[in-house]
Amino acid sequence: MSTPLWSPRRLRSVSDAQIDELADVLIDCVEGGASVSFMHPLSRGRAEAFWRGVAQGVAAGERALLVAEDERGLCGTVQLMLAQPENQPHRADLAKMLVHRRARRQGLGTALMQAAETAARECGKTLLVLDAVTGGDAARLYARLGWVRVGEIPGYALMPQGGLCSTTVFYRNLGA
Ligand SMILES: CC(C)(COP(=O)(O)OP(=O)(O)OC[C@H]1O[C@@H](n2cnc3c(N)ncnc32)[C@H](O)[C@@H]1OP(=O)(O)O)[C@@H](O)C(=O)NCCC(=O)NCCS
Repeated sequence: MSTPLWSPRRLRSVSDAQIDELADVLIDCVEGGASVSFMHPLSRGRAEAFWRGVAQGVAAGERALLVAEDERGLCGTVQLMLAQPENQPHRADLAKMLVHRRARRQGLGTALMQAAETAARECGKTLLVLDAVTGGDAARLYARLGWVRVGEIPGYALMPQGGLCSTTVFYRNLGA
């Protein structure tokens, strides 16, 4: 088991080396069976292309990117989609919560969620929305942290090895 060095921090720009390490985290999560938009196997090229797009969104101020690292490099990350329609300036979507398997079950997911909520407040956001595979590790984490479960959408997405899964929609009112 690796030794965590986190506190999570917000990246204002993303270097090539960080894109490489974030690609490692994403590939590991997909290999581990996480339903996070990609099918298995996820090539390094596609993973890096995804993070380059994220880096552009970070540079444009459209996304907040939080990361945490251990002695081997970045091992956890989560994002806030800050850019929303003009009638929802107070809202952000939380997405791509990813912890490398080497760093799980040590409280990093919890720390990333707390850091994301702090970052959201700093950005003037008072309402957060996310969805997670129904009954999975992430959904359990969000419920434990006080996110409100809205409901389930059956057959929402494919698992990385195939087979449909349901998603559960959650929200968090930061003003409460
Ligand atoms: C969901 C995910 C982010 C959780 O990350 P994590 O770092 O393992 O989260 P935590 O360590 O805070 O909590 C996970 C579990 O470890 C336990 N835990 C936390 N610290 C611990 C410690 N020091 N010792 C023992 N157990 C601990 C928690 O109680 C929790 O238990 P539970 O699953 O039985 O409820 C991670 O599993 C992941 O990346 N999954 C794949 C990607 C994914 O599905 N992302 C969600 C997209 S919506």
